[in-house]
Amino acid sequence: MLFKNMLFGILSLTLVGLLGFVVYTQENPEWKPYQRQYYRILAEKMGDPKLASTPVKLVQTWLPDLSRTDRCVNCHKGISNPAFADQPQPFKSHPFLDGYMKKHPFEKFGCTVCHDGDGPSTVVEKTHGIVHHLDRQLATGVMVQSACTRCHTDMHEPGVDYPEAPAIMWGKKFTTEVALIKCGTCHAIRQYGTTAVLAPELSGIGSRTELSFYLVHDFQHVESPKHLKSQWEFEHFLDPQKITPGKKQINKETGQEEVVGRTIMPNFVKMHQLTEEQTWMLTAWVMSLRDPKVEKTPMAYVPPRRAPVLAQSEPAKPAPTGKRTPVPAKRKT
Ligand code: HEC
Ligand code: HEC
Ligand code: HEC
Ligand code: HEC
Repeated sequence: MLFKNMLFGILSLTLVGLLGFVVYTQENPEWKPYQRQYYRILAEKMGDPKLASTPVKLVQTWLPDLSRTDRCVNCHKGISNPAFADQPQPFKSHPFLDGYMKKHPFEKFGCTVCHDGDGPSTVVEKTHGIVHHLDRQLATGVMVQSACTRCHTDMHEPGVDYPEAPAIMWGKKFTTEVALIKCGTCHAIRQYGTTAVLAPELSGIGSRTELSFYLVHDFQHVESPKHLKSQWEFEHFLDPQKITPGKKQINKETGQEEVVGRTIMPNFVKMHQLTEEQTWMLTAWVMSLRDPKVEKTPMAYVPPRRAPVLAQSEPAKPAPTGKRTPVPAKRKT
């Protein structure tokens, strides 16, 4: 009897403890202390102590056209306030607020259309950590630029310059002008008009989900524990033969051991002595090769196209002569 009572007591205490924990985490989610801290900084900056007690509240940007719900601003409260440029994350204001970010107001674009990541989540581990097989991992640094081509599909065109996306422009120049062996010798890349079949097609590689990528890529030789598509591609550029070494097998005819499936992809990093930063830029460029059929960018988000900057030395084209194409006869209804 005594044992039963004790057991009952222990179980009840555990239950109360668990309930307490659930209530505590619900009442004190991670975003709340960040918002409080934001208002304390704001109060100090504005010289108005009353602001420090502004009630915190959960907000979200619902973007039905993009099928996205972004809650990033619950922690990144200072994102659109230029006065927060000197603050640590997550309070710091967004870079280029005065520049091209004006053309992408947060109310219309949210965050994940450029940064990917788990929009509705309000937990740091989920929004910034590696959540394996989460379709879109949070992009930071140069990798963010691989999202621009979701909408700016003209970025890969010859002569079109986007100084705002320096990694993509660098990748375009490297792969079309600098690299001694052109990628198009082996790869089909629709954006660059190449159709070779010696290697996998790259035209839509940036639009693949993490899961579909994981299923057809071997991560066995990837050094980083981050099993993400960008990490695989980065390490593959560093050393293609290390990531895709092939397999040893016995040749049935000769009885000799041979390696099959070892990649023929040249090591561009070694050949051109690319820095780690440049290798990430090349990775961002590869991931900016997107498939419009997968991205399905809604009309309201399609930007105007940029006119190519013609090379200075190019002679002016002669004015078109009076050749006319026949006007098709009106169809009878
Ligand atoms: C629960 C609070 C929280 C939420 C929600 C949140 N963040 Fe953050 N974010 C942080 C903190 C804290 C940091 C700084 C520490 C760090 O880098 O992990 C940060 C840093 C960042 C950085 C800079 C990272 C780097 O390596 O330079 C980016 C980019 C970013 N967040 C984007 C986002 C996006 C996009 C979302 C929405 C999908 C989001 N955050 C949602 C708290 C949050
Ligand atoms: C139009 C695309 C775009 C949108 C929309 C966008 N960002 Fe960014 N963000 C970028 C780019 C590009 C960078 C710069 C990355 C780099 O070069 O380091 C960046 C950088 C950042 C950084 C790192 C800042 C630093 O100084 O290191 C944070 C944090 C961030 N964004 C959060 C957000 C949040 C939160 C939202 C939504 C409220 C958002 N971004 C919306 C493109 C975007
Ligand atoms: C979801 C679609 C979308 C994404 C992603 C996007 N943009 Fe844009 N961008 C637009 C639209 C739409 C406009 C036109 C806005 C306007 O004119 O009001 C625009 C305008 C611009 C402009 C000014 C117009 C011009 O051509 O000079 C620049 C520069 C620009 N974007 C750069 C970028 C960069 C760099 C990125 C990636 C970091 C990016 N955009 C990501 C949709 C997008
Ligand atoms: C001599 C032929 C050859 C050339 C030239 C070449 N590649 Fe490759 N590449 C391959 C082969 C074969 C594979 C597939 C086997 C492997 O390496 O995993 C591959 C794989 C890739 C992958 C991974 C594809 C995937 O499905 O994940 C990328 C990205 C890539 N190459 C980019 C490039 C770029 C960028 C260039 C030009 C700078 C280039 N390649 C030039 C042969 C080539």
